[in-house]
Amino acid sequence: MAVHSMWKPYPELANELNSVKKLIDQSIQMRNKEVEAVLKDVFNRGGKMLRPAYTLLFSTFGPDHDIKRARAIAASVELLHTATLIHDDIIDDSPLRRGQETIQSRYGKDAAVYAGDYLFTVSFRLLAQYAQSNRQLEINTKGMERILMGELDQMHLYYNLRMTMRQYLTQISGKTAQLFALSCYAGSIEGGLSEKESRKGYYIGSDIGMAFQLLDDILDYTQTSETFGKPVLEDVRQGIYTAPLIFAMQKNRSLFLPLLEKQKQMTDQDMRKVQRLVIEFGGVEEAQLLAQKYTDKAMKRIKALPETNEKMILSEITTQLLERRQ
Ligand code: IPE
Ligand code: IPE
Ligand code: MG
Ligand code: MG
Repeated sequence: MAVHSMWKPYPELANELNSVKKLIDQSIQMRNKEVEAVLKDVFNRGGKMLRPAYTLLFSTFGPDHDIKRARAIAASVELLHTATLIHDDIIDDSPLRRGQETIQSRYGKDAAVYAGDYLFTVSFRLLAQYAQSNRQLEINTKGMERILMGELDQMHLYYNLRMTMRQYLTQISGKTAQLFALSCYAGSIEGGLSEKESRKGYYIGSDIGMAFQLLDDILDYTQTSETFGKPVLEDVRQGIYTAPLIFAMQKNRSLFLPLLEKQKQMTDQDMRKVQRLVIEFGGVEEAQLLAQKYTDKAMKRIKALPETNEKMILSEITTQLLERRQ
């Protein structure tokens, strides 16, 4: 099964990502063969595998790079990511992920909760097996905790019409940027970089993650569910207010309030109206500028890395993320 087409220009990395996928596939072994098959299938549905790619790339900068270990850490990061997506889809009651039915909508909530839980355990099993140091375990646990805190921040702010940009940024820093930061940091540590050097990877990943989530939230307003592979415009109805909306509301609050106050009762027409207003008041553009700022910050630090082929790939994919459509 091929990896996502975005890796085509980098055959070596694509190969490595394929090995990561194989390792994930081999690591999923359950007595319940039905759930096992479902889980294995999730990894064959064209996820981009961005986080493991960052782990692999950053692992090459240190003096003690070991590809087998790096693959395992990369697999562990992708497993963690997928577990959070499965649980996120339960919370959002979402029917669609990666262009196909979610586990919950196919097999029900119970199976989906267990499936997500199981992936967390596989993620930590791989770490325990391959991590060279306790530090690796420590940073992964810490990362996971921060992701959860971000999710809780989001929950706490559901339907909060006074939500600020600062609150939004704290929330996405937790729920998304932490995992990108961890991916780069864990890769750096695996390669044997010093704590100080690895921290630089952490900051790069964090800024990439911020830009990435901003883009995800923009695409929610500009894409269709066919192109995006998951539902669009649902965030607003679920009370998740993101950058494009927050920026647009700063321009004209009163136009949005009557629509948003309907909360779950918002009709599809209401949501399309919010979408039009968000675009009309420049919310998408402002969010794009902010995403660009985070990418620029990451790029500045990437430029200071040693001149290697991996550095070139890092620069290219990081810039391309701002142009993605899915
Ligand atoms: C989706 O992440 C969750 C967000 C942080 C927005 P990805 O867009 O990387 O998901 P897959 O793995 O490619 O499906
Ligand atoms: C998800 O963010 C971040 C996670 C930690 C799961 P979103 O809620 O925006 O992700 P999508 O849009 O459902 O992929
Ligand atoms: Mg979601
Ligand atoms: Mg989203």
